[in-house]
Amino acid sequence: MRAMTNTLGLAARLKHDTRSLHTQAERSGVMADLLRGRLALADYCALLRNLQAIYAALEQGLDQHRADARLSRLWQPELRRLPALIQDLERLHEGDWRAELALMPASQAYAARLEQLAQEQPLLLLAHAYLRYLGDLYGGQMMARLVRQHYGLSGGEGTAFYAFGEAAEVERLKQQFRAGLDALNLNAEQADAVVAEACEAFQRHQQLFEELQLAA
Ligand code: HEM
Repeated sequence: MRAMTNTLGLAARLKHDTRSLHTQAERSGVMADLLRGRLALADYCALLRNLQAIYAALEQGLDQHRADARLSRLWQPELRRLPALIQDLERLHEGDWRAELALMPASQAYAARLEQLAQEQPLLLLAHAYLRYLGDLYGGQMMARLVRQHYGLSGGEGTAFYAFGEAAEVERLKQQFRAGLDALNLNAEQADAVVAEACEAFQRHQQLFEELQLAA
């Protein structure tokens, strides 16, 4: 299996090798509840709060390595999600979300991993950028519709996290990210490490979704 997928470009390989983990993650814990319209607004805010901590660590790491052409090529300003997440939390949570919404062990461990990568193996931050930004670009439109519907929101209020612009812009960002991955020209060892990190990142998400469901 690996011999075959090794001949694919990095973007296709990531998609191929994480496919079953993606399916598991989207069916796990609060993510499954959200899709079925069974997640209370307070628990949706808890999810956003935990994602906020993950994006803060990821985007800080990516900013820190702006001078590295391999990272900066993929780290486009339009992708940045942290300000949008904060905006949604301010809109949707009544009160002090930083103090009142708990960080789960999985997201604390996730943020620690991202900080470690920023220090020791910045190239692997790309695996997390792949997971988050391509996931947001693919799922964003649908998620925004669901969230608006479930929580009775209108226009863009409370859904800034999913807003990347018009459909054509979303498509452009997806294509640009995929092309950027393929243009990295990583050696086999580096590519294997990025794919392994992406697989682990899906598992970390699954764990977070399950912990959040238990805490809900
Ligand atoms: C709410 C549940 C979710 C649904 C319904 C969903 C659905 C989808 C769909 C339909 C695609 C396009 C697949 C294709 O073109 O073959 C996609 C792509 C993607 N999703 Fe999700 N997703 C969900 C959750 C997630 C989560 C939780 C993550 C990561 C944490 C994620 C990460 C990704 C990534 C990285 C891609 C791009 C795959 C690629 O083309 O390489 N998704 N998703």
